[in-house]
Amino acid sequence: MLGSNTMARLANDAIEYEVPVNPLHKRIDKPVTAITLGAGSRGNVYGNFAEKFPTLLDIVGVAEPISLRNERYATKHKIADNNRFNTWERVFERPKFADAIIITTPDALHYAPCMKALEMGYDILLEKPIAPTEKECRNILALAKKTGRIVAVCHVLRYAPYFVKMKELIAQGAVGEVISIQHLEPIEHMHMSHSYVRGNWHNSKATTPIILAKSCHDLDIIKWVINKPAKQISAMGDLKWFRKENAPQGSTARCTDGCAVERTCPYSAIKMYYEQRQRLGVFDLPDDKTKHPEAIMEKLKTTNYGRCVYRMENDQPDHYITNIRFGDNVTASFSMEAFTSYAGRRTRIMGSMGDMVGDMTELVITDFRTGKQTKLVPKAEDVDEYRNSGHGGGDWLLANDFVQAVSQQNPKLLTSTIDESIESHIMAFMAEESRKNNKVMGVVM
Ligand SMILES: NC(=O)c1ccc[n+]([C@@H]2O[C@H](COP(=O)([O-])OP(=O)(O)OC[C@H]3O[C@@H](n4cnc5c(N)ncnc54)[C@H](O)[C@@H]3O)[C@@H](O)[C@H]2O)c1
Repeated sequence: MLGSNTMARLANDAIEYEVPVNPLHKRIDKPVTAITLGAGSRGNVYGNFAEKFPTLLDIVGVAEPISLRNERYATKHKIADNNRFNTWERVFERPKFADAIIITTPDALHYAPCMKALEMGYDILLEKPIAPTEKECRNILALAKKTGRIVAVCHVLRYAPYFVKMKELIAQGAVGEVISIQHLEPIEHMHMSHSYVRGNWHNSKATTPIILAKSCHDLDIIKWVINKPAKQISAMGDLKWFRKENAPQGSTARCTDGCAVERTCPYSAIKMYYEQRQRLGVFDLPDDKTKHPEAIMEKLKTTNYGRCVYRMENDQPDHYITNIRFGDNVTASFSMEAFTSYAGRRTRIMGSMGDMVGDMTELVITDFRTGKQTKLVPKAEDVDEYRNSGHGGGDWLLANDFVQAVSQQNPKLLTSTIDESIESHIMAFMAEESRKNNKVMGVVM
C-alpha cells in the first residue's frame, strides 16, 4: 500500500518519496503573462517564480502604491513604464493586456479587483482569503462560473509534497477508514506578535478574522484529506495574553521608550528586528544588503513594529479551538496556538486499520494489523530551491500548476480552484460565528 515505484528505502529505514510531476503538464511554448496587484511579500513570492522560470511566467504589469516597492518590482521584471500603476483600479482602465492577474493585495482588497478581473476576462491567481465575507466569496464563485475563467486560490499547502503525500495515502486507505483527525497549527510566538499583534493582521475588522487570515489553510487541508462535506462546527478561543492589563510594570508605549523590562521581554522589538534582524521585509529598507541599523531603529520609533505588544489595538485571538463534524460522522479537532516556540503544522490521523502522525517533515504510519511502522520522508533531491519555496514547497508548485492551467486553459491542473476552496472558507466563517455567539453552527454549502 505504501510502496510505489517512486519510493526508496533509506539507511535509517525511512522511505523516501517523490511527488511525481503532474502528468497533465505540457511543454509551454510561450510564457503566461501576468499583472501583479500588490508588490509586497506575496507578490514577490510569485514574482520570484517568474524571475527563476522566465519561460513559464512573465510579469508584464504591476499595481503598487508604495513607490519603492513598485520601482523594485518593475526593475526586477523589466516592466514598461506605461504598465506600472499606483493602484489596482488603474490596471482595469486599460483593455486586457495579459493572460492573468495575480491578486496579492491586502485581504480587504481581494474582492473588487477579482470581480473586475473576471469581468474583463482575465484568469486569476488569488491570494487567500478569497474575500472577507461569505457573500463576497460566493459572488466570486458565481462570476467565475459565469465567465468560465480560472480562479486559483493560494491554498498553497495543497501543493506541498508532504500534504500531497498525506492526501494520497489516506485516499489509498493507508489507515483504513478515517475516523478522526487532530490538527495543530503552532503559529510560533514571535510570528504571532509580528503579524497578528503589531502587524498587518492585528485588527480583524480591518482585515479578516485569524481563523480565515491564518487558518483557512488548515481547515482546507483537514477538509481535503477527509474528503467529505463539513456538517457542523463549533469554536472557542479569545485574545488572552496580548492585552493592556497584562502590560508589565515599567513597560512603555514603545520598546524604544526606555521600557524597564525590555531586556527580559520575549516580545522585545529591539531584540527581534534590531539585534536579530528578523522579519525586516516589512520595513522597505533602502538597501536590503546593508540593513542599516539606524534605519531599523527609526522604523521601531515610528511604525507599529516598535510598539509594546500589550498596548496595541489588536483583537485577534491568540488561541482558537475548532471542532468539526464531517459527513459519515468523521470528526476533526483543530487548534491554532500562538504560544509555541516552533512553527509548522502537526497532524494525527486516526483510522480503523492504522494511524498516521506527521510534522511537515516526516509522516509515520502504523498498521494495526501488522504492527509495522513506516516512516516517510521527501526525496532529498526534491528539497531543492524549487520545492523549498515557502509552505513546504507549495508556493512555487502552485505557481507552476497555475501557469500550466492558464496555458492549457484547463482548471483540472489545479487542486485549489475557487469551487474547491470555498467550502473551507465557509467553515471559517461558521467557526467565527460559533466562537462569537457561543453556538454550534451548521455548515451549508
Ligand atoms: N498563501 C499564503 O500562505 C499567504 C501568506 C501570507 C499572506 N497571504 C495573503 O496575501 C495577501 C498579501 O499579503 P502580503 O503578506 O504580501 O502583504 P503585503 O502588505 O506585504 O503586500 C500587500 C501589498 O499590496 C499593496 N497595496 C495596498 N493597496 C493597494 C492597491 N490599492 N493597489 C495595489 N496594491 C496595493 C501594499 O502596498 C503591499 O505592498 C494578503 O491577503 C494575505 O492574507 C497569503
